[in-house]
Amino acid sequence: MQFETSNLSLAAVRADCIAIGLHDDGKFAPLAQQVDEASGGRLKQLQARGDLPSRLGETLLLLDLPGLKAERVVVVGLGAPADFDRRAWRKALSAALKAVLRTRTLRLALALERPAADQKPGGDYYFGRAVAELTHAALYRTNDLKSARKPKPAALTRVLTAAIANEAAANVKRGFVHGSAVAGGMKLLRDLGNLPGNICTPRYLAEQAKGLASAHRSLTVKVLDEAGIRRQKMGCLLAVAAGSAEPPRFISLEYRGGKAGAAPIVLVGKGVTFDTGGISLKDPGAMDEMKYDMCGAASVLAALQVVAELRLPLNVVGLVGAVENMPGSRATKPGDIVTSAAGLTVEILNTDAEGRLVLCDALDYARRYKPAAVIDIATLTGACVIALGHHTTGILGNDDALAQELVAAGQRADDRGWQLPLTEEYAEQLKSNFADLANIGGRDGGVITAAAFLGRFTKGMSWAHMDIAGTAWLSGSQKGGTGRPLPLLADFLIERAGRGG
Ligand code: BES
Ligand code: MN
Ligand code: ZN
Repeated sequence: MQFETSNLSLAAVRADCIAIGLHDDGKFAPLAQQVDEASGGRLKQLQARGDLPSRLGETLLLLDLPGLKAERVVVVGLGAPADFDRRAWRKALSAALKAVLRTRTLRLALALERPAADQKPGGDYYFGRAVAELTHAALYRTNDLKSARKPKPAALTRVLTAAIANEAAANVKRGFVHGSAVAGGMKLLRDLGNLPGNICTPRYLAEQAKGLASAHRSLTVKVLDEAGIRRQKMGCLLAVAAGSAEPPRFISLEYRGGKAGAAPIVLVGKGVTFDTGGISLKDPGAMDEMKYDMCGAASVLAALQVVAELRLPLNVVGLVGAVENMPGSRATKPGDIVTSAAGLTVEILNTDAEGRLVLCDALDYARRYKPAAVIDIATLTGACVIALGHHTTGILGNDDALAQELVAAGQRADDRGWQLPLTEEYAEQLKSNFADLANIGGRDGGVITAAAFLGRFTKGMSWAHMDIAGTAWLSGSQKGGTGRPLPLLADFLIERAGRGG
């Protein structure tokens, strides 16, 4: 997909479709005005008849308007001018793209009004990013395994954004490049999440990491098999894998783009390729969705793909603990006590609290890199979904500055997270009579006690934890991966590399 900026008049623009927006106050913004004038007042006539949409996200396709080179015009409603914020703009743009993709448009000129938020510093960059991300999101097709013939792919190959001033063009174009890379990462993340557990196994994730490393010379991969994991004394990770015939894998994927000695950012992903709950078996209800329990791991792989593609001047390490959590005759039982790589003993009171067991050993592994920051990403708790719903990623950690840096990145990237308090008293809920700590802390404050467990393994490192249980996928008729929290993570990394908006 090619993205360009253009300053041509809309009458002359070389595109076979123009998308314009219309507010509900009946006034035409300058770009809609241009189309109206070029077509000899055709839009005004249609508006007078009451045929043009103005409610947010409503669309209408107009064919062969006179006076325009483009043979199609998609009109999208922008709603009330007073409510036209970034979110409304994204919604309108997505709706317009959807309408465009129902046609055989090859070259699209986007001539929607931009929201006021775009006038802020960095606005042009984020405009470019959002255009690229939303275009690719509209083009995304779920990687289903249906045997029927796939529908024809969309024809769209070029998107140009109209009315971009010359001094804004460079930033918009950088946004296009970054947004396209983020979209590529989101596709990888969504595809991996959507794959069923019988395909996307720990070994499959390891193969994906190897594939990334062979596609990018700046990436090096190392995969530990079960014996290698045992040599690292990762007793907690192995306790989760114990019940499954699928062997675990531990993946490290290193990107060297920064100065040789510069401390890396280490990303750690929960890669539970299927979470049955183990002996503490889950209810059958929506158990199929536990194929998404590797979205933290996939976010890490996707983030490294983005970083490598954009050649960011940073050192970044991705670590993934990949396991399947199954019941079985060798499975870990409630009450079993195991020793983590860090040496702390853990009483596993609930085998369904397995993500933290995988992460604690991976977080300990991160220490050898003397990281500038460690960020783990995990579909860790149902409690996070209760607390924040599906809109906001839970962010916790032992370094408020780092946590707030992630919150700010999510704000800028329209992929929001919110910090929850991780104060010392929560760790007390993890006391065990028989081991250094238990792997559960009761129902109350479940998002936070899960983080408190991880906090026992990250002392002395600048660490943040992202609970993406609510944000990484959607249920119901929209079931599927969302590609979150990649925009947030990518923004954080781009900003750390000094290449942001
Ligand atoms: N993978 C789940 C968390 C989860 C649940 C994500 C629902 C998305 C939707 C995790 O391994 C888990 O089972 N957590 C338990 C922890 C509890 C046993 C302390 C949970 O949240 O119920
Ligand atoms: Mn679980
Ligand atoms: Zn899980």
